[in-house]
Amino acid sequence: MSERKSTSFSSKVGLIMAAAGSAVGLGNIWKFPYIAGENGGGAFLIVYLLCVLLFGMPLIMTEFLIGKRSGKSAFGAFRALNGNDRWQWLSWLCMMTAFIIMGFYFVVTGWCFNYLFEAVRHTFDGFGTEALTAHFATVSSNTPRMIGFSLLPVVLTAAVLWFDVNTGIERLSKLLMPLLLLMMLLMAGRVLMLDGSNVGMRFFFQTDFSKITPKVIMEAMGQCFFSLSIGMGALITYGAYMPKSQNVTGTSVQVIILDTLVAILAGIIIFPAVFAFGFNPAEGPQLVFVVLPAIFEQMSFSWFSGVLFFSLLCIAALTSTISLMEVAVAFVCEASEAFANNGKKKHGKAFNRHQSVLIVSALVGGLIVLCVLSMTGAFSGLTFFGHNLFEWFDEVTACIMLPIGALGMSLFVGWCLPKNGEKGVLHADKGIKRWFRKIYIFVLRWLVPIAIILIFLNSLGVL
Ligand code: PFF
Repeated sequence: MSERKSTSFSSKVGLIMAAAGSAVGLGNIWKFPYIAGENGGGAFLIVYLLCVLLFGMPLIMTEFLIGKRSGKSAFGAFRALNGNDRWQWLSWLCMMTAFIIMGFYFVVTGWCFNYLFEAVRHTFDGFGTEALTAHFATVSSNTPRMIGFSLLPVVLTAAVLWFDVNTGIERLSKLLMPLLLLMMLLMAGRVLMLDGSNVGMRFFFQTDFSKITPKVIMEAMGQCFFSLSIGMGALITYGAYMPKSQNVTGTSVQVIILDTLVAILAGIIIFPAVFAFGFNPAEGPQLVFVVLPAIFEQMSFSWFSGVLFFSLLCIAALTSTISLMEVAVAFVCEASEAFANNGKKKHGKAFNRHQSVLIVSALVGGLIVLCVLSMTGAFSGLTFFGHNLFEWFDEVTACIMLPIGALGMSLFVGWCLPKNGEKGVLHADKGIKRWFRKIYIFVLRWLVPIAIILIFLNSLGVL
């Protein structure tokens, strides 16, 4: 198992920032408030936190360890560790999940870029609650505009992967992540001074246990995987880049804490404002886009606050899209290489990194166009069980594909690889204490798979 040589990460802090950059993104600031709003606020929060405790730590550790031990990305890691192709389906699942997530994630990133552009031009000045809601409907139904704004971040992400400027991004996120947190704290402070904000705080923090339904549990589990970037191999790649001496446990804890903090802060900003301004917490995917401009109206330096926040949001989204696209690009590179060298005869040439970036960008671009058309354009009448493509991409990845990916990885490490010795993943981090190894393996073998299966069955109504 070769250690992958990489110049991509200059330090341990850099790797933590990159992994946190993958985790912290639209999942925390856009998706968490809207899913929590639709699923009963406090009831969702408590189940979400339980999911983070139960699944977050063992699964983030697992992905890092798989990457660190194998030195490979999601395509080669399972084969390298297991010595055969029996778990290769998991690599394919990771790649497909990455593509489908990108199909809708770039559309939401496009909304962020659109709002940044409008914030710069003072578009929302003087808008009330109704005008803001109507404005989102107008903007998001403008098909050419939406396609343009969604393809812009694809080009930016592809450029980062093309020029391999991860080190630059890593330095940038070291500066921007604290700035994002500071900005969110300021916004929370302002929102909590609004009349009626306490209703929103109660909605978000008071648990009405009768609202915890199988659907809420399923959504919370999916949101936990999505937000922490687990279940599709993104963190395997970062594990492969980890310096040998880096401590997997500590890195995992830091990523989880940061990600959860940002999600809770997003809730503390959005819900008090929702109730103070008279929005509906179950507004759906547009929730933060109609509420945020209303908050900036109330802040001092409103133009500057709006522009700064939307810039930070766009960058947070880009650090996540980089990790998503990297999974697909590494897959195309390595899969084509494996195909070209398969058997004695050469089957053509493998794609190099630049070609892979182009292929992935073109395919993702196609998915994005389909997704936008399904919401606003030619295919908007086309729904399947009442949901359009955008909603399907969002729902299927969070509630089905990521949990299956996570289940596969926990079974792979828990049952298929040896617990100890050179061939086990724990060999990649000798610093982990014996008692902790035992707990980790137990949780991965039993608790994680059983919980995922029970939550599945429960949501299907079998239990
Ligand atoms: N965790 C990211 C977010 O919360 O926005 C989304 C994401 C990135 C999911 C990378 C999965 C992934 F592999």
